[in-house]
Amino acid sequence: MDAPQLHIAFSDILLQKPGFGALLMVMNEQAPIQVAGRHGASSVSSIELKPSERSTRIRYAIRDIMLLAEQAKAAGKELVRLNIGDPILYDFQTPRHIIEATYRAMLAGHNGYAPSLGVEEAVEAIRREANSRGVRNIQEIFVTSGVSEGIEVSMAALLDPGDNMLIPAPGYPLYEATLAKLGCMPVYYHLDEANAWQPDVGEMAKLVNSRTRGIVVMNPNNPTGAICRKELLKEILNLAARHGLVAVSDEIYDKLLFDESEYVPLASLAPDQPVVTFNGLSKAYLVPGFRTGWGILSGHEQEVAAYREAIAKMLRVRLCSNQPSQFAVRPALEGDQSHIALMVEKLKKRRDLAMSLLTSIPNVSCFTPQAAFYAFPRLEISRTDQEFVADLIRQTGVIVVPGSGFGQQPGTKHFRMVFLPPEETLRKAIGRISDFARNWNQ
Ligand SMILES: Cc1ncc(COP(=O)(O)O)c(C=O)c1O
Repeated sequence: MDAPQLHIAFSDILLQKPGFGALLMVMNEQAPIQVAGRHGASSVSSIELKPSERSTRIRYAIRDIMLLAEQAKAAGKELVRLNIGDPILYDFQTPRHIIEATYRAMLAGHNGYAPSLGVEEAVEAIRREANSRGVRNIQEIFVTSGVSEGIEVSMAALLDPGDNMLIPAPGYPLYEATLAKLGCMPVYYHLDEANAWQPDVGEMAKLVNSRTRGIVVMNPNNPTGAICRKELLKEILNLAARHGLVAVSDEIYDKLLFDESEYVPLASLAPDQPVVTFNGLSKAYLVPGFRTGWGILSGHEQEVAAYREAIAKMLRVRLCSNQPSQFAVRPALEGDQSHIALMVEKLKKRRDLAMSLLTSIPNVSCFTPQAAFYAFPRLEISRTDQEFVADLIRQTGVIVVPGSGFGQQPGTKHFRMVFLPPEETLRKAIGRISDFARNWNQ
């Protein structure tokens, strides 16, 4: 989707004072834009604001498709949202103790700016949990506005324009978007669908070049729901060590595991290597709207010292993340965890239902997710997955995301859906997908 162009008639600018430029705040659909116009430019009737080159490279398929959904809604379709990984949209409720801790923090006056790295109580709870999971040599813990801000901060502190990072395809598109924002390049390593979506570390090694600064691992993965095997994590760490790369491990789904799958935090396997681990409250703790996440920088003290300071600097200029919700971190990590077991039990039933319904559709196959709440069904169709999804949304109102929005092996086609909704909603939605797929002119 191209960024909208903004047209401003200079004759519309009132309150211009002779000798001064006019400064106008114009609100378009997306963001406030400042427009500077020179007084007296009577021959110019309009200007067209050109957005930055880097903004044109930014895509976020998960929300970009909402435009189509709005059209479907306007045409009278009942929308079923299977596109966004927000459990609060469905029948999962935030545990009371997490809300109460935040409320108490506000009543106690924790409503000002927080320390840039995060409030001590939250940082220490994150440290205790990381230690208990075998993460050693922690050099910094920083609380951010969701993992999303942590990704941006840690990349901005590491990369110069023209640098690159290895990122998985398929993978969560924010990494690619953040690289684009920074004038850096994504280098995709493909996960192998025929091998339970595992990486091929031999292929990854061939992709490293002189501008590569890091390797991103999403474990468990969004959109595939796969967990990376321990021996492959070790090989990835060896590769990173050989080339002096930072390993970045996004572990936001690490508590939503099915089938007693073995799960190992990447940093626990390499205490002396630079690793940034991300996690947060958005998924298993059911408060994505709190925007509370964190990064943990671990590794050899001297080796990461300069990077650590660069991260701290980036954090200082953005002041801090939301203070009251940081007081939810300790109660979340150290308080009652029973909601997680209930959530996993519900999700597992929904996953099993979704798998059995999806795989009975002709030309659809699907790896059974081992974690998180996404399925990434494969389509055997001749047209593109964007066309499939666009027609699906228009004709049925069921919103899923094209696989191309996450990166995939060229020639393969997928879509991503969440299996968060209750069973009757899943039955209805996948029933509509099935009827559509059987009749779609591919
Ligand atoms: C792998 C992954 N990382 C990060 C995020 C964003 O997390 P946050 O809400 O903490 O910014 C998501 C959200 O879906 C995700 O899937």
